[in-house]
Amino acid sequence: MKIAVIGTGYVGLVSGVCFAELKHEVICVDKELSKISKLQDGEIPIYEPGLQELVLRNAAEGRLSFTSDLAAAVRQSELVILAVGTPSLPSGEANLAYIEQAAREVAQAMDGRKIIMTKSTVPVGTNHMLKQVIAELTDQPFDIVSVPEFLREGTAVKDTFNPDRIVIGSDDPAAVQAVIELHRQLTENIIVTDLRSAEMIKYASNAFLATKISFINEIANICEKVGADVSQVAAGIGYDHRIGHAFLRAGIGYGGSCFPKDTQALIQIAGNVDYEFKLLKSVVDVNHQQRFSMIHKLEEIFGDLKGLTVAIWGLAFKPNTDDVRDAPAIDIIRELVLRGAAVKACDPIAMDNFRKVMDSEAITWCEDGLEAACDADAICLLTEWQEYCRYQLKHLRRVMKHPVLIDGRNMYNQEQLQDSGFIYRSIGRPSMNTVAAIQTLQPLV
Ligand code: UDX
Repeated sequence: MKIAVIGTGYVGLVSGVCFAELKHEVICVDKELSKISKLQDGEIPIYEPGLQELVLRNAAEGRLSFTSDLAAAVRQSELVILAVGTPSLPSGEANLAYIEQAAREVAQAMDGRKIIMTKSTVPVGTNHMLKQVIAELTDQPFDIVSVPEFLREGTAVKDTFNPDRIVIGSDDPAAVQAVIELHRQLTENIIVTDLRSAEMIKYASNAFLATKISFINEIANICEKVGADVSQVAAGIGYDHRIGHAFLRAGIGYGGSCFPKDTQALIQIAGNVDYEFKLLKSVVDVNHQQRFSMIHKLEEIFGDLKGLTVAIWGLAFKPNTDDVRDAPAIDIIRELVLRGAAVKACDPIAMDNFRKVMDSEAITWCEDGLEAACDADAICLLTEWQEYCRYQLKHLRRVMKHPVLIDGRNMYNQEQLQDSGFIYRSIGRPSMNTVAAIQTLQPLV
């Protein structure tokens, strides 16, 4: 199939490249000329394991190209994928300006029948609206199909080739058949539905996953007070197949480009039809509060945070990505600085992105976890990069002012901490203090 992909963000680029790998002829389009020229040179604007290799191979074999000429790409293609951003407006609603504009440009370029497949996450009713917008601008026949995207950053290529399901929303049986053919080799779980239900499936999925996270985080907070261990509780409930093990990792809450935006958007979608989505509002609220549990744990140990030096391990919203959008680290570092602490921050790949969002004289940027820990009063582990588990705790203890480790992702286990001399706090698990550690801290408390 000849495919044009409009928008080379996470979803557009990964989908385009993967369809090329499946032997389709793909042209990726973006308005940003610098992005297109980098992609033409084989440079990837995002960090995503496995993606560069696929871009280089498929471009070299002539199945994948990049252009800023939307009209030419549309004319050459049978299928046009809309994968432009739908960022949040200040109200929380999704901003549909970009997707509407892209649909207009596609309509103006159409010279024959096209299937227009939307992959952007859009509020219920948007595909119907786009249908109208396009029909007003062209006499050419077309079909709209909604195929929401469920890929995760950091495992985007793997997820695209191994989806749990493909959701296809459309009113047109012929277009549905063509889109089924396009995905047939990826999975047997293909759900065909109407446009509105397909749009809702995407929001409901993300809202449900966010709910699982906030749920386990609240259970963790209670575990801390009653002396239970949330990781045991999560394992125990997860074996019930109606609950499942996934997304029950307690921590400092979710971040990223999807959950925060899509939960707010769904609250707005409900609000627009006079429905208050109380449960989801609480999920968002719990998630916000959870970030500050790191601050409370430091306060429990040190009292006032003024004058402390805190090492921050991890800035990305999760490991294996350089994405810092809505990362818990933003709120946590801002709060530390506000309370007069100095911060020594590090991240294996997200530091440059983070500095664009937040820079301050109170923050020292460090090469790695060891440099950040030097002379620090405490380490706050915010992103579970594997390398943060590889340090010798005894060695770390020697370079730190005080041996305090606040593990916001429950990366360490009790055996690792045995005899380490660290004061260790995690999320929803019994605290560990060795006698040596408490003595070290005595003058401060
Ligand atoms: C998410 C959805 O998983 C994906 O289907 C959708 O297409 C886009 O949004 P992504 O944002 O890339 O993907 O990351 P994901 O791995 O889902 O993690 C989201 C956040 O939840 C991260 O901040 C992560 O740290 C947090 N999380 C996840 C937890 O705190 N606990 C968990 O058990 C799982």
